[in-house]
Amino acid sequence: MRLENKIAVIIGAGQAPGMGDAIGNGRATALLFAREGATVCCVDRDLKSARQTSEMITAAGGTAMALVADVTDEAAMEEAINRVAMTWSRIDILHNNVGISVEGGDAPLEDVSTDAFERIFDVNLLGTMLACKHVLPIMREQKSGAIVNISSASAYWTGHPTVLYPASKMAMVSFTRQIAIQNADVGVRANTILPGLMDTPMAVDRRVEATGRTRDDIAAERDAKVPLLNKMGTGWDVANAALFLASDEAGFITGIELPVDGGSLARVG
Ligand SMILES: NC(=O)c1ccc[n+]([C@@H]2O[C@H](COP(=O)([O-])OP(=O)(O)OC[C@H]3O[C@@H](n4cnc5c(N)ncnc54)[C@H](O)[C@@H]3O)[C@@H](O)[C@H]2O)c1
Repeated sequence: MRLENKIAVIIGAGQAPGMGDAIGNGRATALLFAREGATVCCVDRDLKSARQTSEMITAAGGTAMALVADVTDEAAMEEAINRVAMTWSRIDILHNNVGISVEGGDAPLEDVSTDAFERIFDVNLLGTMLACKHVLPIMREQKSGAIVNISSASAYWTGHPTVLYPASKMAMVSFTRQIAIQNADVGVRANTILPGLMDTPMAVDRRVEATGRTRDDIAAERDAKVPLLNKMGTGWDVANAALFLASDEAGFITGIELPVDGGSLARVG
């Protein structure tokens, strides 16, 4: 029970629709946090999907609630966070999982529009910023708390096929370092996870729809790029890293970026 008695808010705790058994990073994290004793508040713009996650938690004997909010809507985010704070009197963990890429219009530079730029930076960066803005005063008052922001290893990759997603994910790294230092005086920690190629519905199944290729074909192409056993990671790998960073075991760790990428960032050349 590594998160016993902790109140955790997971933004993006639902999951993109998929065609197989793959689990999303956010849902896996919500389930694992609950299994480790946390009360989990599942926030998503898709209430049905957030409810599915919270029902999976309660069916397994855990405690959860589901709330709707779009991360780009400050009033909705503030309301959701206040609701959690009023219900449970504290917030120990904030996990920001929401992120979009090609579905928001990301593309090679010559094809990106101003609308796509605004959409992707709004969801990935503004969304994370708004959640932190409204949770941090609560954590500062408590003099404790842990924030985990889900960025991407693609922030550090060169040769990524699109430009907006990696740029927004790198901005999240810088933002997280700033809030880590600005809140270190009261013991509130903030860290970033850099997932590499993961086998999630968003990353694989959505591409099947977009390209018409088979799931096996897309999965094999992604697997081949991963140094460790030539196999993508899963949502559980991200969840396990998030569990460590959110737990008291990481009590002396703040302002870092933790790759969960099967060695992708270690490879040069
Ligand atoms: N899967 C990968 O290979 C991979 C690699 C690197 C980074 N990541 C990052 O992992 C995170 C999510 O992965 P996932 O597999 O859980 O994805 P997912 O799509 O299954 O889950 C994301 C959730 O966010 C919700 N969401 C989307 N836009 C929202 C908005 N505007 N407001 C509120 N909720 C919104 C969706 O409804 C969904 O439930 C993203 O930040 C992504 O960039 C994934």
